Amino acid sequence: MTISTPDSGRTTTRKDLHPRGDSGARPRPRTAAHDSPMSLSYLPPLNATLNGLSGVLLLLGLVFIRKGRRDAHRACMFGALTVSVLFLASYLTYHFQVGTTRYTGTGGIRTVYLAILASHTLLAAAVPPLAIVTLVRALKERFDRHRTIARITFPIWLYVSVTGVVVYLMLRGSYAHP
Ligand code: HEM
Repeated sequence: MTISTPDSGRTTTRKDLHPRGDSGARPRPRTAAHDSPMSLSYLPPLNATLNGLSGVLLLLGLVFIRKGRRDAHRACMFGALTVSVLFLASYLTYHFQVGTTRYTGTGGIRTVYLAILASHTLLAAAVPPLAIVTLVRALKERFDRHRTIARITFPIWLYVSVTGVVVYLMLRGSYAHP
C-alpha cells in the first residue's frame, strides 16, 4: 500500500510504517492496483482532454461537410476516431489499475452528477458500434446511408465527449490521489 503525504511530497510505503512487517495484518501480495510505484494521477486530466478533443474534431468535421469539404471532413472524423480509441485505452488502463472513483458531493448536485454519469455511460456503449457502421458506410461510398446513420451517431458521440469532460470536472475533488 502506498500512502501519499502531501506535506512532505514523499510517498510512504507500508514497509516504512512497519519496518519489521509487523502491521498486525496479514501481508498482502503486491498488486499493480495498490503498490504501483508510478502515480496514474495524470490519466484523468489526459482522458478529459482526449474527450474534449474528440468533441472539437467532431464539430469541425460537421462544419467541413456543411461547406462541402469532404477530405477535411474525413480527416476530422478519422482524427475523432483515433482520439476516442486512445481515450478508451487510457480509460481502461486507469480504471483497471485504480478502480472506480466515488463522487463525494451530496444533495442535489449528486443527483445531477449521477444523471449525467448514467446517460454518459449508457450512450458511451452505443458509440463504438454506431461509429463503425457510420465509417463503413462512408468508406463504401454509400453516402446516402452514411448521412442517415451519421445524424444519429453524431449527436450521441458529441454528447458522450462533452459529458466525459463534465464528469471529470465534477469528480475533480473526489480523486483519491492529490
Ligand atoms: C465515423 C466517422 C464519421 C462521422 C461521425 C460522420 C458524420 C457525418 C455527418 C454528421 C454528416 C452530415 C449529415 C447531415 O447532412 O446532416 C456527414 C456527411 C457526410 N460524410 Fe461523414 N462522418 C464520418 C466519416 C466520414 C468519412 C470517412 C467520409 C469519407 C469521405 C465521410 C463522408 C461524408 C459525406 C460525403 C457526407 C455528405 C453526405 C450527403 O450529404 O449526401 N464521412 N458525415
